[in-house]
This record gives sequence, structure tokens and C-alpha cells, in this order.
Amino acid sequence: MTLQSTQINRLDYTAPAFLIDRVDLTFELEESQTRVQSRLVLKRNPEAVAGLPLSLVGEELSLESIKLDGALLKTDAYSVSATGLVIATMPDEAILEIVTIINPLSNTSLNGLYVSSGNFVSQCEAEGFRKITYYLDRPDVMAKFTTTIIADKTRYPILLSNGNRVDSGQLEKNRHWVKWVDPFKKPAYLFALVAGKFVMLADQHTTPSGRRVALEIFVEPGNLDKCHHAMAAIKKAMRWDEERFGLEYDLDTYMIVATSDFNMGAMENKGLNIFNTKYVLAKPETATDVDFDGIDAVVAHEYFHNWTGNRVTCRDWFQLSLKEGLTVYRDQEFSSDIGSRSVERINNVKALREMQFAEDAGPQAHSVRPEAYSEINNFYTMTIYEKGSEVVRMYATLLGREGFRKGMDLYFKRHDGQAVTCDDFRAAMADANGVDFTQFEEWYKQAGTPALAISSHYDAAAQTYTLNVKQSCPATPGQAEKRPFHIPLAVGLLNKQGKDLPLQLAGEATAQGTTRVLALTQAEQSFSFINITAEPTPSLLRDFSAPVKVSYAYTDEELVFLMANDSDAFNRWEAANTFATRLLIALYAAGDEKPLAPASFINALRKLTSEKIDAALIALMLELPRENYLIELIDQVDPCHLHFVHRSVKAQIARELRPELLAIYQKLNDGAIYHYENASKRSLKNICLDYLAELDEPLVSEMLSKQYRLSDNMTDRLAALKALVNRDGGDAQLADFAVQWHDDALVMDKWFALQSTSRRPGALSRVQALMDHPAFSIKNPNKVRALIMGFCLQNAQHFHAADGYGYAFAADRIIELDKINPQVAARLASSFNRWKKMEPQRQQMMQAELQRIAQQDDLSSDLAEIVNKSLS
Ligand code: TRP
Ligand code: ZN
Repeated sequence: MTLQSTQINRLDYTAPAFLIDRVDLTFELEESQTRVQSRLVLKRNPEAVAGLPLSLVGEELSLESIKLDGALLKTDAYSVSATGLVIATMPDEAILEIVTIINPLSNTSLNGLYVSSGNFVSQCEAEGFRKITYYLDRPDVMAKFTTTIIADKTRYPILLSNGNRVDSGQLEKNRHWVKWVDPFKKPAYLFALVAGKFVMLADQHTTPSGRRVALEIFVEPGNLDKCHHAMAAIKKAMRWDEERFGLEYDLDTYMIVATSDFNMGAMENKGLNIFNTKYVLAKPETATDVDFDGIDAVVAHEYFHNWTGNRVTCRDWFQLSLKEGLTVYRDQEFSSDIGSRSVERINNVKALREMQFAEDAGPQAHSVRPEAYSEINNFYTMTIYEKGSEVVRMYATLLGREGFRKGMDLYFKRHDGQAVTCDDFRAAMADANGVDFTQFEEWYKQAGTPALAISSHYDAAAQTYTLNVKQSCPATPGQAEKRPFHIPLAVGLLNKQGKDLPLQLAGEATAQGTTRVLALTQAEQSFSFINITAEPTPSLLRDFSAPVKVSYAYTDEELVFLMANDSDAFNRWEAANTFATRLLIALYAAGDEKPLAPASFINALRKLTSEKIDAALIALMLELPRENYLIELIDQVDPCHLHFVHRSVKAQIARELRPELLAIYQKLNDGAIYHYENASKRSLKNICLDYLAELDEPLVSEMLSKQYRLSDNMTDRLAALKALVNRDGGDAQLADFAVQWHDDALVMDKWFALQSTSRRPGALSRVQALMDHPAFSIKNPNKVRALIMGFCLQNAQHFHAADGYGYAFAADRIIELDKINPQVAARLASSFNRWKKMEPQRQQMMQAELQRIAQQDDLSSDLAEIVNKSLS
């Protein structure tokens, strides 16, 4: 085996031997030969073992010179390797000057300093700074940075880095320079540099304390008209954080730069956030409602990191969820406040269940605070981010909004300017509220999704209603036995009229509200409610109060009742979701040639179509559970059979609810001009269209092509095109779309994604052909996500085709990508994570492809770790 990697263990943490007070960087930018001068003011860390050597990390650097306290170091005074530079004998205080040469043009990993569309862009989280210069590249070393950038004036008129722009000037040979000073100390992963041709949208914001902040969004020329939504989002996010958490921005300028070559969504570099264009550029003609919401969320997320991540950062990368879980929680709360709280919650829970639950049940399962990793890039996961945010949400559920705020205030009071741990956050929450959160640590330690088995008992004579709750958690790699978690279980009880009952637990003098948060702490517990005069229907895990799986033996009638009556909007949706999930799985297991859903289900959906609630909520309740979610619930699954069942039920709904769906569609398709605010109506309209597209009728064909042609916005156009592509191939419209949008990269991503996720036969060969399309590039992560990941991760039916060609295609692309961009290759490799879920023949084929990948020479540590874990 060529696979080998060194593992880093959480418990091996030791304090750094040296600290860095100041860093002065000077960049002389040339595409293939950038000269980086670094001047470090170092001192020994009094908290570390005395006499240790200075060990700096660095990768892919060519060292030009090194000076210690002004004197050139002779080559025998230090040693250089492929991973770093060691100086054995060091004074307690020193000034170290290092000059290195790097090649941004050949850097296709998009990690470190690289070139994108002729501009220089940096990405340093988690460990990219070591590809710029030798450094103590770890988050607990925080220093004040100054950055001077020298570059050709014509090609790089804009030169940006962190903090405040303090000086600039001209040099000979058409060059110019700009100097930036960041007054806040920060770890190297928050360093950023951008240089190139950009246009800027400017605005401003005044904080409650009176600071005037200049807001600047930099984009490539031609894109200025697509920055307004992002700018509005910055202002909303700033105001929200001031009001909700009392947190203000702390520099004079807040900059965002958009780049089209980016491994993730965006990056929170101090004062200079760098974004994937996907989360900046939008106007109604090019972006969907989902895109606009994504921009709000990501802009807010990166802005919120200024406090939760930058001012208070992580001691080591095992603490990643300290900043990511907390910041996701904050951006979700922001989105809930500016939009619909219940719709936001449902969408987040859907994503959690489809992706994080799968991760937690598979070979990459890890806890929110992992114990070991070999490549930190592989730990920017659904578990760290989304489960991490659920863990933060549970503090808020247990403490209430005010208690949570007290905890946050104490956290900042104690730790501003520090690099800390998840334990420090938990201690702040506990101490600010006088609560014991000892057991709560299990959420950070144990992987796996806990399961709650709940049963109920009504005692008519005693008028008591008892809920019996058993919690358990499946084994995960390296964790066979699990201890009980501290779980907030929010419940309500509905009477026969569908009204919430006041809830009084045995031993309480009075009823206290209609939703109670029960604190589960033991493997088995019972909760008795008193003064219950008739058997109620329980509403369990309201608002999804914990990231767990609940099982309770609801009858279909009870689910229909909850769909119609629950005061908790999340649980109304959940009842519909449970009903549909159960039925699809039963039909899958039955294996009938013509799977048919029972009338009770169709009638429940019919009833929904006339509900007077938020249109977006109806749309969510009408939508069937997605195939990726159902795959997780079936052992030895055949995804093609599952797809057949799913599609049959969808077509049945379309046939039986045709009049209702058509009536809603026609009412909402009123030709009114586009307003972003009507997004929820569009979502209902387009789910109706999606169903109707199952019907082979001229009327439907006409509706689809009309909506495609006449829509004034991308949400509606794309909905029509998607239905056309799935229905009859939509060739004419696909061609038309490409002609219209060939030079808009983000719109072309949608065009690729529509085809890679198409359910029509021949999807794989079309994906293969599209790899030669002029708008496609395997070096660009957005393109890979649209075309290749779209196929491998969002098109279960074709990826899992019985002939195994989907698997072979994926493995080929993973191998190809590993040489270009290991982070992206490793993400794509996760398409093989669930191979043990499949029926035996597919298991075998997937395993064989994994082995083929494992046998390649020189696998990146990123890919090796994922593949190793999958195979073990
Ligand atoms: N910290 C970034 C965020 O959550 C994540 C990120 C951006 C990232 N780019 C990256 C993580 C590259 C790893 C590698 O907003
Ligand atoms: Zn983040």
C-alpha cells in the first residue's frame, strides 16, 4: 500500500515554543515568481518547555535567505526539509528575516497564494500560510501583521490585505506599492492578500458607538450590477449582530472580494473576506431565490466570524467547531429573523439529515470535537458545521435566549483576543447561568446520531399521560460503547380539537406553558403530565430541539392530525415527512410492479393544497422526501429501485391531485413582475409545476415552455428548464439557455448541474461529453461541483447504475483531481462513503473502485485519509 499519513491527536497538544509579536511581510508579485520577505519578531513562550529549537513550517517554498538579528545565517545553523525549517539554537528574543520565492501560477490547489482569472488571491485556512512563507502556522500563535504589496500598476491596480491601508507609492518600471496594517493580532490562517483588476461597490455603515465603517465589495469588471444584494446583506448582518449580541465591527473598512476559483463558500480573513462568486454575484435574471438566500447566509456567516472566530479564535484545529458551529448557529438565527423561521429550520434539518446523519453513520464519522486527523482539510464537515450548530442551539434551547446571551457575553469578556477551546465556551455558558454542563460534553466527544425510542401511556382514571423515553447511540469507528447524552426534548400535547394543552409535570404546582423542554440525561426516563382529561396526541421534538432520530408509533391518522393542527410549524412539516417516508419505504420493500400510495396519503396532501398557511411551508410539506434521505433508511439498498418507487408515487400524486395542483399553479403564475419578496409563492408554484411535469399532456408541455420563455427571473426559468430536462430532455431549451448565458460562469454552473442531475437515460454519457464543453474546466471547483459532484452525489439512480460505470467514472475523476486539487478530490471521494449501505453487487463494485484509488502512487494526504477510512 502506498497509503500512509501521520495522525495528529487532540490530546498531544502542547503550547508553541515561540510566540510571534509582529510580522512584517513584503510581497513582490510576479505570477510564477513571487518574492516574499518576512520579518518576524519572536520570543520564547514562557509557558513552553525551555530550550526548544525554533521549528517553522513551510511547504513548496524556495528559500532565498535567512537572517537572525541582522546577520545572515550560515547553512549549518538551520535545516530545511519539505515540510519546514528548524533553527536549533535560538536566543530568547530574536528578529528573523526570511526571503522565499513561491509560484502562485502553478498553484492549482487553491490553497496558499494562487492566480485566478489573472488576479492574485490567497486562501490560508487551515494550513495555507505555510505555502507562502516559513511560519508558526498554528491558530494559537497570534501576531500583528503589516503587509506591503508591490506589483505592476497596469495588471494589478488594486492591492489589498488585512486591516487599514496606511500608505502607498509609485516605483520605477510601472510598479506601485500599498502598505496595510492590521491592528488586531491574529493567527496566520486569517491572513489575506488580493491583487488585480477589480471594480468596487462602496457603501457605509455606522455602528451604535459611532464608528463609520466603509463597506467595499470588489468584483471583476462587468459584475457591479450583481453586488447589491450582497451589500444589503452586509448591512443587515451588521445591524443584527449589534442588536442581538451587542457586537460591533472593529475596523474602519470591511472588504469583500469575489473570486471564481475557490474551494469553499467564503473565508473570513480579518477585514478582507474572500468569497466564491456564487455567494456574491446575483441579480434576478441570473440568480434563483435559493441563491439570494445563500448570499444572505454566507455574507452573514463570514461577517459574524469577526467575533466568533477572529477576535476569539481556536487554540488548535480540533476546536474548529468552536468557531464554525457557533457561527453557523448565528447565521441560521439571522436568516430566521430576516425570513421565515420555520422554513429556515425545516431546510436546515433536511440538509442535516440528508448529509450529516449519513456522515455520522458512515466510515468518516467523527465527533464535533474530533480526537485525531491526518488532514485537517477533511474536517470541514457537516458534523463540524451543521451538527456543531445544533450543539450550540441546544445551549440556547436549554438556557433560553437571555441565558444564551449571558453565556455569550461572558465568553467574550473572558476570551477576547485569545485562542481557546470548546471547553472554554461550554464553561462560559455554564458559569454565566449557574448551570452544570458536565454531561453536555458528550456532544463534543461522542460521534453518531442518538436515537430516542418513545412510547406513551394514558391513565384515564388518574388523568395522567406518561412519556417513556429510551436513548441510545450506535457504535461509530473507534467508539463501540456510548454514554447517555444531555438532550433537550421539546414536547407539546394536543387535545382532540388540535389545541395545545397546558403542561404540568407530576410534582409541579401549576401548568407551565404548552411546550416543555424535557431534559434527558439517562438511558431511560419517564415524564408524567397530570390533569390530562382525555388522551392527547404528542408533538415530539418540537422545532427539532436536538440532532437525534425519534421513533414513536404514530398511526397514519395521528400524522394527518398533526399535519393539520400542530402549533409547531416544524412538526407539521415533520408529520408530513414521516408519513411520506414510511410509505415510500414500505412500497420499496413491497417491490410491487406498480407501487401505489394509499388514499389516506393522497387525501392528506389534497387537504394541504387548501391550507391558509405560508405558501413556502405548504411547498415544503408537499415535497416528497429526497432519495438521498431515504437511502440512509434502507439497508442493502438498490437506489435504482428506490428511484422507481419515488418517481411512481410522484406521478401518482400528479395524476390524483391534478386539478388542485393546476389551480394553484394558474393562480400563482399571474405574470406579475418579479419581486424577491414573493419567493415563497414561487416555491409553491414551482413545486406544483414539478408535479404536473409528470403528466404527459400537451397542456403541461405548453405551460413548461411558456414559463421557460416568458419568465423574467432565473428562479422560474430554471424550474421550467429542470422539468423539461427531466421530462423530455429539453434539448432546444438547453441549447437556447447556453447561447444566452455562455459567458456567465455562475449561470453555466446551473446549466451543467441540470444535466448532471437529470433523471433521463444516458446521464453519464452526457456528463462525459460535457467535460469537453468550452465552459467546463476540471480546475475550477464550481464546475466540478456542478457537473461531477452533481452526478456522483445528487443523481443516485445514475451514479449507482447497475453496470458500475458511474463508479468507474467517479474513481477516474477522483484520481485525476487529486493531482490538481486534493481538497476537491477528497470531497468527491465521499461519494463512496456509503458503499456498505448498498446491496451486495454494488458494494463489491464500489469497494473495487476504492481499492483502485488506494493503489495509486502519491495520493494526497487528503484523499488517502478519506479512502483509508472508507475501506477500513
Ligand atoms: N472558514 C471558512 C468558513 O467557514 C471555511 C473555508 C473557506 C475553508 N475556505 C476554506 C476551509 C478552504 C478549508 C479550506 O466560512
Ligand atoms: Zn465559517
